[in-house]
Amino acid sequence: MAERKIVEQTLAELGDATAEKVVARFAEVGERFDRQVAVHSADPEAWRVFVLAWTGRKSGILSLITDNWLKPARPELKRVVGQELNKLKAHVEAVLEERRVAIEAAAEQAAQAREQIDLSLPGVERAIGTRHLIRQTYEELQRIFLSIGFSVVEGPEIETPYYNFEALNIPEHHPARDNMDTFYIEGARGGHLLRTHTSPMQIRTMEKQAPPVRIIVPGKVYRRDNPDATHGYMFHQIEGLAVDTDITFCDFKGTVEYFVREFLGPQAKTRLRPSYFPFTEPSAEVDATCHVCGGSGCRVCKFSGWIELFGAGMVDPAVYGFVKYDAERLSGFAFGMGVDRLAMMKYGISELPLLYQNDVRFLRQFP
Ligand code: PHE
Repeated sequence: MAERKIVEQTLAELGDATAEKVVARFAEVGERFDRQVAVHSADPEAWRVFVLAWTGRKSGILSLITDNWLKPARPELKRVVGQELNKLKAHVEAVLEERRVAIEAAAEQAAQAREQIDLSLPGVERAIGTRHLIRQTYEELQRIFLSIGFSVVEGPEIETPYYNFEALNIPEHHPARDNMDTFYIEGARGGHLLRTHTSPMQIRTMEKQAPPVRIIVPGKVYRRDNPDATHGYMFHQIEGLAVDTDITFCDFKGTVEYFVREFLGPQAKTRLRPSYFPFTEPSAEVDATCHVCGGSGCRVCKFSGWIELFGAGMVDPAVYGFVKYDAERLSGFAFGMGVDRLAMMKYGISELPLLYQNDVRFLRQFP
């Protein structure tokens, strides 16, 4: 830096012996400063070094002028050197301050530009989910039963043997318990278990509520089945119960037929096949004409023309004894449907696990 060489010498050494020469010398330094300002202000680090080179307390150019020019100046030049130095200082400081403000403003602007939201960029797309097929089927089933006066109740998935079995007329060593491979909860004092069906809610509802009763019970149930194409350790049921003073087998059959037509379409026919459940008497399996072949026989219905839908029956009077209902005066019917089964049948799904794997390629088919 040439000006550094100049200010390291005294004025005497530079040969500036008159006031005019001193003024000219200061003017030269001032011009050099002005030229450098423009060059260095673009880069923050260069700017920092530049500012220090001029204003640094120990060896900045202004300090060197004070030390080398002012202090040793001859008495007759002291005054003019002092004046010129003050002018130069004021100029340097004013210019540096002006630049500092400009640089900071530019940096601020750049930061703002960086942080600005670009509205033309594609946004983060959050796919809106759809209701799962099981949920959709539940809603369809509920719609049908709500439309004929049933209401929805729900109950616990962890049950006592009393509600899951005893009060449903399934005593301890009854073989019906074997059909429902039960998950028992280890260490549970009341022998608690995961309910194997939604039927316990028949009991819980009748215990709490005087007749008439017209309820459906959606919910999860659990069985120790070996998982395969149509079995898992958990599935979904919807229970139904209607109890009143004048309910007949005709009401039962009419309700079931209404349901089948609503669920499968007006062409569907219903068949009741004798069956057995400890808590219904008589009991029936409800079949419908095959929705694929319409009853003529195909692979889906194993060439029988019929598809098994669910179990049902007239409430066994023994059950009323457990809930202190008057078995002489009251009658009713109950049914229990496998929701997964109904959904698989209606939508032609061959593998139960598809319902639980949450593969969007599967789920998207049921928007
Ligand atoms: N709870 C029975 C089952 O899970 C179904 C059923 C309910 C049968 C109500 C008759 C009446 O197999």
